[in-house]
Amino acid sequence: MTDLATVLIVDDEKHTRDGLRLSLEDDFDCYVAGNAVEAMEHLKNDQIDVMLTDLRLGEDDGMKLLEQALALPKPPVCIMMTAYGSVDTAVEAMRRGAYHFVTKPLNLDEVELLVKRALRSRHLEHENKALKQQVEQKFSIEGILGKADALKPILETIQQVAPTRATVLIEGESGTGKELVARAVHNLSGRPKAKIVTVHCAALSAQILESELFGHEKGSFTGAQERRIGRFELADGGTLFLDEIGEIDAATQVKLLRALGEQTIERVGGSKPIKVDVRVVAATNKDLAKMVEEGKFREDLYWRLRVVTIHMPPLRTRKGDIPVLADHFLKELSAANGKAFKALGEDALPQLMNYDWPGNVRELRAAIEHGVVMSNSGRIMAKHLPAYLSQPGGLGWRVPATLGGKSAPSDEATNKAPLDIHQAEKHLILEALERSGNNRSEAAELLNMSRRSLQRKLKEMGMVRKHRPRTKAPK
Ligand SMILES: Nc1ncnc2c1ncn2[C@@H]1O[C@H](COP(=O)(O)OP(=O)(O)OP(=O)(O)O)[C@@H](O)[C@H]1O
Ligand SMILES: [Mg+2]
Repeated sequence: MTDLATVLIVDDEKHTRDGLRLSLEDDFDCYVAGNAVEAMEHLKNDQIDVMLTDLRLGEDDGMKLLEQALALPKPPVCIMMTAYGSVDTAVEAMRRGAYHFVTKPLNLDEVELLVKRALRSRHLEHENKALKQQVEQKFSIEGILGKADALKPILETIQQVAPTRATVLIEGESGTGKELVARAVHNLSGRPKAKIVTVHCAALSAQILESELFGHEKGSFTGAQERRIGRFELADGGTLFLDEIGEIDAATQVKLLRALGEQTIERVGGSKPIKVDVRVVAATNKDLAKMVEEGKFREDLYWRLRVVTIHMPPLRTRKGDIPVLADHFLKELSAANGKAFKALGEDALPQLMNYDWPGNVRELRAAIEHGVVMSNSGRIMAKHLPAYLSQPGGLGWRVPATLGGKSAPSDEATNKAPLDIHQAEKHLILEALERSGNNRSEAAELLNMSRRSLQRKLKEMGMVRKHRPRTKAPK
């Protein structure tokens, strides 16, 4: 067995057959045939990848051979050869399914290039077919779609834990779907007065967070002119979703621990304990265990929160989900943009599969949206997707090996530098800022995150206002 692709050369003139064979045999496994019968023999027995055939084969008709070849269970890619002046027939052959044609006298370099292109197209077509089959075997609950085996146990855990009162901690990188999971846990909880109340812990200062969670009595601090009901009370009978739980300050951690343990809260400035019936779901993209080790997060609270932990794996470790998600976003975003894309073009999916997605599902969604917006033809091809996806190894998202820190060779099958998530996120944010002309609201929208989260990330990255000065004076 050889790994070379197979090419069948069909021509009734011996010198053409020999010339082509000589020029192609270094790169391909070549077979030759002088007529249609011999050609069909090879096609049936030799797993031919590309057939190069003259349109006129003495007594035989190249067009008929084309049709017979294409009717085979595993048809080859067909390239037609035609005399100068009979291009019309060649075009007709393409209409019937030929890949392309070349005119005689032959330019052998051109033929070789065309054969290579034909093989690449056939490869993509096969890959695409396989990926499309994956889409058909998707599974989903509550809008969480997936195919890869990694997601299945997660969906099962959600179903199992949702109807209970257990506190759930959802961990995972940014954009992996933590909020979606939190909502699923709530929606499937079957709690009678169910509502879900969200608190973005990172966005609020310590004092505001405390009064946001537990409420305050009138006059309890300067500015507290009215009594205020906190989110715990608002969520009574339902779910409280504490997003970015790793960000809460030490004092609020203590209060939260008490609220979780005793199911009672006290408003700021109040003295009366208030009974609440709240199911808590928390999410974080931080390594909470490490924060506990470093003394930045209370260990007792950590254990209280993680009665059930759901870890959302990064998209790069469950690439089998990409076709399903891409298909879903394509339909959703086409409808939203008033376009009618039904499927991705054949070179687009392989492109998506080859990329590492540091921004996870959120980044994939943004890439598909880019494609939907950029394509005016009937299909979204690789060229309509963001350019950085096609750079070798997703160049835009990788740190050079010298900056990669301690690299774990076993971690990566390739010899690429290890992926640095923060670096990658920074690139993503920079690109969004660039595309939006440094408009943060627009950039946040492109990134499918709130403007507040974007602000916070910019702050974390030390990118606040140092990067590209704003034109408007800050308020
Ligand atoms: N499995 C999935 N199926 C369908 N859509 C998904 C899936 N995972 C994520 N998404 C979509 O990707 C986007 C990001 O998801 P989400 O906001 O839940 O991420 P996150 O983990 O909370 O991110 P962050 O840490 O940045 O807040 C959303 O538009 C969400 O609907
Ligand atoms: Mg989130």
